[in-house]
Amino acid sequence: MGLGLLSDGLAPTPPMGWNSWNRFGPFISEHLVLETADALVESGMRDAGYRYLVLDDAWEGSARDDEGDLVENRWAFPNGLRWLSDEIHRRGLRFGLYTDAGTRTCQGYPGSLGAEARDAKRFAEWGVDFMKVDWCYTEGLRGRSTYPKWTDAIRATGRPMVLSISEWSRDKPWEWAGAVGHMWRTTPDIADTWASVVDIADRQVELHPFAGPDHWNDPDMLEVGNGGMSDDEYRTHFSLWAILAAPLMAGNDVRAMSDATRAILTAPEVIAVDQDPLGRQARRVGRERDVEVWVRELDGGARAIVLLNRGETAARAEVTWDLVGGSISDTALVRDLWERQDVGPRRQGYDVTLAPHAAAMLKATRDNSARA
Ligand code: GLA
Repeated sequence: MGLGLLSDGLAPTPPMGWNSWNRFGPFISEHLVLETADALVESGMRDAGYRYLVLDDAWEGSARDDEGDLVENRWAFPNGLRWLSDEIHRRGLRFGLYTDAGTRTCQGYPGSLGAEARDAKRFAEWGVDFMKVDWCYTEGLRGRSTYPKWTDAIRATGRPMVLSISEWSRDKPWEWAGAVGHMWRTTPDIADTWASVVDIADRQVELHPFAGPDHWNDPDMLEVGNGGMSDDEYRTHFSLWAILAAPLMAGNDVRAMSDATRAILTAPEVIAVDQDPLGRQARRVGRERDVEVWVRELDGGARAIVLLNRGETAARAEVTWDLVGGSISDTALVRDLWERQDVGPRRQGYDVTLAPHAAAMLKATRDNSARA
């Protein structure tokens, strides 16, 4: 394994997809996967960028087979994972699958410790495109010495697979994971609550230097549409993940989502910020009482901005161009990325009144006409 950052082109922008865990936990099946794959296509999610359909924990049978290979639970997946993988690919999607670096998965199924090469090969034979490797039952192991085994195991299969490192920030993965995998969890598990979203956001503040093409901080999968937050809160959750250049893994029931949920998850101009090719993660540049300002540099020099009201009452939020940086000063052209509307030229800065727990997401571009 080299010391340099990964640059294999497998995740030039943050991976996007759907993962079974947040909504379905261990209750997953072939039937659910096929219906979800169809729904990803029909809802427009696939075409909005959600390409990886990831089966999380509990797809496994309770023991390895006689050869020592992992096997799927045949009751839940009667046609097997190779067949399911083909069905997923047939729909223009990619297949993601979970395992665990320790002796057991978090749900108690066989883990991959000592079988990294065997299991990576098995995944490759199944046509897996994305491996999530979790961290339960890893007594005595360290992330920085364990995950490189996965990098090598995947490379040895000859099949390109995104490596999603899920050790919950135990071993400061931003220090080493950029050379090892494509994304790494930076926090404990998300919950479908406002408190969890803002807590996770706070834990990203120092991590912007470590993100870039093919290596991303992962503040965990999305809860948008799972019912524990208001639509305003979900819009804020999604705005923050997008400006943070987070992998966007939808975690809801896409077969039965509300129009509001679908509109949030497929908002084209917000997704475009997440997927901006420069690959910069936002910095928090302002914080006054409950109001925060996050800024991200975009390809070509424009800036994405999130204005956030964490408080319980409406608040005025303001960004001034001197906070934004780059060549933006004096007058900037402002566009509202949720409304998908130009706000117009603004001198010095921009301000807006935000409902409790709401966010505005903007793009500011240098106004060349003003200088002519
Ligand atoms: C851990 C991970 C979650 C999920 C579950 C599955 O908690 O952090 O994302 O994969 O295990 O058991």
